[in-house]
Amino acid sequence: MAFTKKLKQLFASTPKKSNWDGLIEEYKPWLPVTKKTPIITLKEGGTPLIEVKSISDRIGKEVKVYVKYDGLNPTGSFKDRGMTMAISKAKEAGCEAVICASTGNTSASAAAYASKGKMRSFVVIPDGYVAQGKLAQALVYGAEVLAIKGNFDKALNIVRELSDKYPITLVNSVNPYRLQGQKTAAFEIIEYLGNAPDWLCIPMGNAGNISAYWMGFQEFFQAKKSKQLPRMMGFQASGSAPLVEGKSINNPETIATAIRIGNPVNKEKAFLAKESSNGKFSSVTDSEIIDAYKILGKEEGIFCEPASAASVAGLLKIKNEVPSKATIVCVLTGNGLKDPDCAIKNNDSIFHTGIDAEINAITKIMGF
Ligand code: F0G
Repeated sequence: MAFTKKLKQLFASTPKKSNWDGLIEEYKPWLPVTKKTPIITLKEGGTPLIEVKSISDRIGKEVKVYVKYDGLNPTGSFKDRGMTMAISKAKEAGCEAVICASTGNTSASAAAYASKGKMRSFVVIPDGYVAQGKLAQALVYGAEVLAIKGNFDKALNIVRELSDKYPITLVNSVNPYRLQGQKTAAFEIIEYLGNAPDWLCIPMGNAGNISAYWMGFQEFFQAKKSKQLPRMMGFQASGSAPLVEGKSINNPETIATAIRIGNPVNKEKAFLAKESSNGKFSSVTDSEIIDAYKILGKEEGIFCEPASAASVAGLLKIKNEVPSKATIVCVLTGNGLKDPDCAIKNNDSIFHTGIDAEINAITKIMGF
């Protein structure tokens, strides 16, 4: 009898809303949106924070390391957090076309959100230096792709000039709405851990994301949602490390093409984040990046792109400085599927090819 009553109650009640509605809906009071803002969303954000014991074990000292796996956003990178805001605000302002310079992820994200918002998108990329998956995305999402004979820094100068002269909205991280959207990742981390971590390790390219995280951590700290602020630990690839070397790099080079940037536009904001958080900027070599990339894949089942692995490579490089019992979050900014060429060239797995299609041939290789 009691069971029938319970069932009846269950059917009568409205089901609990369990779907994530995208970060603008989830964090509206914290974002510059109004009732008039058309929300262009692909349900970005709400990405998992995953404990990575293989990394904690390599550090010891009872530290707990997590990764914020932002490669699980709709287009496979953290850029979606910023793009839902930038495109929604562009739509609100009546804009019909957007433009960006990109090492790949911004272009994929801008293209997807512009299409969702029924706008045109133009993306300017360095010819030959964008990972295949990202290029494929921009094309499939319907962007007009302009590959230039020059690097990201040149592309950014061009799109800044174009957006000044023509009726087209710039959606690179100089667009303040981008950082507003991206700061929500810090909110999610605090909500999950119940506090801010001791350290946040993050890769830096144009340095928008580190600035956005710092803004998010500060806002939640001021609202007493966390008891502390993290130290902001930023990492760059050693062939492309203007923020570590303190000067622009004319010809940046690294396997991590996403962060192949010689003159970051958000450098002042990034330095402020470092100084106010007692943080640190360091560089990691391509081979350190690939080592971390392999550990995450093989020991944790987490596939990120090389630029993202820079955060974990950096943490491992300065592991002697980690205080005992620290809680550390490394940001994995992009999905490994973005760069299949890198994956196929950089792994320790055994790949047998040209095998006869016979059980015997296979069992022999398997050692049975
Ligand atoms: N990680 C990935 C996977 C990226 O794509 C980027 C930047 C970064 C880290 C660095 O973030 O620029 O905010 O410091 N990608 C940009 C792009 C430049 O065009 O996709 P940042």
